Amino acid sequence: MKLVLASKNQKKLVEMNEILSHLGIQVCSEAEAGVDVEVEETGTTFEENSLLKARAVMEASGMPAIADDSGLCVDALNGAPGVYSARYGGEGLDDTGRYRLLLENMRGQTPRTAKFVSVITCCFPNGDVLTARGECPGTIAFAPMGEGGFGYDPLFIPDEYGAPDGKRPNTERRSYAQLTPDEKDAISHRGNALAEMEKKFSNLMTTNNVKVGGVDYVAGVMNNLDRTSEKSIFDHLSEHNAELADEIRKRMFVFEDIVTMDERSVQRFLRDCDPKDLVLALKGANSEVSNKIFQNM
Ligand code: IMP
Repeated sequence: MKLVLASKNQKKLVEMNEILSHLGIQVCSEAEAGVDVEVEETGTTFEENSLLKARAVMEASGMPAIADDSGLCVDALNGAPGVYSARYGGEGLDDTGRYRLLLENMRGQTPRTAKFVSVITCCFPNGDVLTARGECPGTIAFAPMGEGGFGYDPLFIPDEYGAPDGKRPNTERRSYAQLTPDEKDAISHRGNALAEMEKKFSNLMTTNNVKVGGVDYVAGVMNNLDRTSEKSIFDHLSEHNAELADEIRKRMFVFEDIVTMDERSVQRFLRDCDPKDLVLALKGANSEVSNKIFQNM
């Protein structure tokens, strides 16, 4: 499945792909999807802004869109900069100017505890919306440390970091900017939100949640997954509800056929198909498939 990221931030694009690629989900930029959307972040919560961004890009591109609204909430500053993290100190500041300002505002302040928050929203063209929230607790350093990452990374010391065998307490007190991408992704606010979103994606495709988009829709989504993800979801589904797994598999053939058909077969399909199948194919298909159908109608 291909999602458009509602952001111009190249580093977020890399992080999202790192975390979602194993699910068979590919995240592309607005430019790759041929859109350039400016969204005014008028919300007062991460949830509101995240939805505003994802919905605007989904509407402009006609593709499923994913947005992240994130920020740093510092306890001693009553949660600031929070949803205003990207605009802290006004327009004239860059990342370095913003973290310097934060450091100044933290002079003499206790406690130095803080958390990064990320709310990820995924909007689908059929009106479905999935939302996931992730947090990462930590403290604010007394001076910037490290060159990696972006934004407030040099000032944020997470409580834990990721290791191949799980999470470890950050006793060395390394900042986000001093962690490798893997060490950060495993514990980061965005990593946690994406893990939550990952569960929602696979829930969407299993028993109880089929109602979110209907069987047709689930079949369409499944059809866009890679073979490994598809197999693991079917294994799971067959164990819990074999009848439903069969139903989805049957409907998936319709999409599969259309994707792989040559032009003449598409025409034949359009001539001979049961109108119900056509509606179903259009309803669940991604834009590549529906374009192909429309071109031939
Ligand atoms: P957004 O693009 O409106 O979500 O703005 C989020 C802002 O929060 C960014 O511009 C950064 O300043 C900050 N931010 C979000 N995530 C991170 C992160 O992982 N590291 C450092 N800063 C972050």
